[in-house]
Amino acid sequence: MTTSVDYSTRPSVLRSDSLTRTFGWGKSQNKMERKSVLIVGSGMMGCGIASCALLAGNDTILYDVYAEALGRAVERTKQNIDELAEQELCTQEQADAAMERIHVEPDLEKACASAKVVIEAVFEKLELKQEMFEKLDALLPVEVPILSNTSGLRITDIAARTKRPEGRLPAVCPDDGGRPHGI
Ligand SMILES: NC(=O)c1ccc[n+]([C@@H]2O[C@H](COP(=O)([O-])OP(=O)(O)OC[C@H]3O[C@@H](n4cnc5c(N)ncnc54)[C@H](O)[C@@H]3O)[C@@H](O)[C@H]2O)c1
Repeated sequence: MTTSVDYSTRPSVLRSDSLTRTFGWGKSQNKMERKSVLIVGSGMMGCGIASCALLAGNDTILYDVYAEALGRAVERTKQNIDELAEQELCTQEQADAAMERIHVEPDLEKACASAKVVIEAVFEKLELKQEMFEKLDALLPVEVPILSNTSGLRITDIAARTKRPEGRLPAVCPDDGGRPHGI
């Protein structure tokens, strides 16, 4: 027998209280409230991570350098979440509510404006990730954590062009087999 799981109560770094505890992220440092999880790179992993973030109750923004990828990404994320509901890993109500929280933003600066945490999932190329982290570092206050979903690159290499002080360096977002309870 399969049991339905309440993802809003499961431990996950993507839950707002865990974000506060894990990264020290608390009240907004900017006038605009920072309440969204921002996914940079909306391919296979970006959509999987977005599914986790959405089911954990977060407003979630998908960004991709190719604007046309964003429409596909919303469809893919919906498919992911619907499959979880079909497998009774979440309820249909949770799946529907999750999709109410999804947003797309083709402008990186605008996407960063409301981000409380950023998870990078672009192609596995060091130069590309370094360039992306440099941009994100310039657009985000230091209190907003930046994570990478790299498979095997060193996080210190990815962060080489950022100006973040020690202790505020980006973290790795390890693959969790696509499971929605945490990253
Ligand atoms: N596929 C896996 O099983 C897997 C598992 C663990 C980790 N990873 C890692 O996750 C990351 C993403 O992998 P994926 O399989 O989702 O790749 P993918 O090719 O499906 O998606 C990558 C996305 O990044 C976008 N992108 C490229 N350049 C960009 C830029 N400058 N700005 C914004 N978006 C950009 C692409 O348009 C694409 O939508 C890689 O680092 C990969 O190694 C993948």
